[in-house]
Amino acid sequence: MIVIKIGGNMVKNLTPAFFESIKQLQAQGEQILIVHGGGNLISECGKFVGQPATKIDGIRVTDQQMMAITDNVLTKIVQPELHNQFTAHSIDSTMMNDGDYPFLIGDYIDQATYGEVGAINAVKANYIDVMTYQSVGLCAPITLGPAGQKLNVNADTAAEAIASLIHADQLVLLTDVPGVMLDDQVLNQLDCQTATKLFETKKLVNGMVPKVKAAFKALDNGIQNVSITNDLSKVGTAIVH
Ligand SMILES: Nc1ncnc2c1ncn2[C@@H]1O[C@H](COP(=O)(O)OP(=O)(O)OP(=O)(O)O)[C@@H](O)[C@H]1O
Ligand SMILES: [Mg+2]
Repeated sequence: MIVIKIGGNMVKNLTPAFFESIKQLQAQGEQILIVHGGGNLISECGKFVGQPATKIDGIRVTDQQMMAITDNVLTKIVQPELHNQFTAHSIDSTMMNDGDYPFLIGDYIDQATYGEVGAINAVKANYIDVMTYQSVGLCAPITLGPAGQKLNVNADTAAEAIASLIHADQLVLLTDVPGVMLDDQVLNQLDCQTATKLFETKKLVNGMVPKVKAAFKALDNGIQNVSITNDLSKVGTAIVH
């Protein structure tokens, strides 16, 4: 299984080459699960109802109203849009959040600080397996909380957790930059020591922080092949020990 996280801004910028790569992977017998963000559109809708985005440590603070907006944007707008794009490229895909089946189970990370924000602790692996059988699984980063409520999960964190829990072979964090950059150069490889240095010297900031953290967590959890790229056919930055 390959888990691919697609950033919110990438959803609208997927290239024909991306869909070709997906077809090739499927032809090789790979199952594919896509975890998608929705960043910008969630922020736009928040602004529309007078709730500008507030982020603490790169995590979107989410009250109950924003949770409802996030849920609707991800599952009713972004996911169908992805589904339509796959259909237009003659690739079967499955909107996994369609039936509201709770296949991601988790808990609050810190309700007092972040509100309705969660982390994924368990997954229904069988459901994921069936949904990705000869079809690309499309998954929103929303988990079921302890009392049956929906909780928002950072999409990088969600992709890592799901990939780790299902023991995926590969995790690709697809974003709008060709990899982790240092002084305008893409780093072909990134080890933990170098990443720590980049954090400390503020060469690695904003959305790249949770992404790189998620990438190292996946590696620590035994996923051999973890990368950050803007092109599915190129490695970009390989995350290494
Ligand atoms: N050292 C770095 N190398 C590359 N990008 C960096 C670096 N430091 C910060 N960034 C920023 O990180 C961004 C990628 O993270 P971002 O969260 O914006 O995108 P995403 O995770 O793909 O999308 P979304 O958050 O909507 O799901 C880049 O566009 C860049 O501006
Ligand atoms: Mg991000």
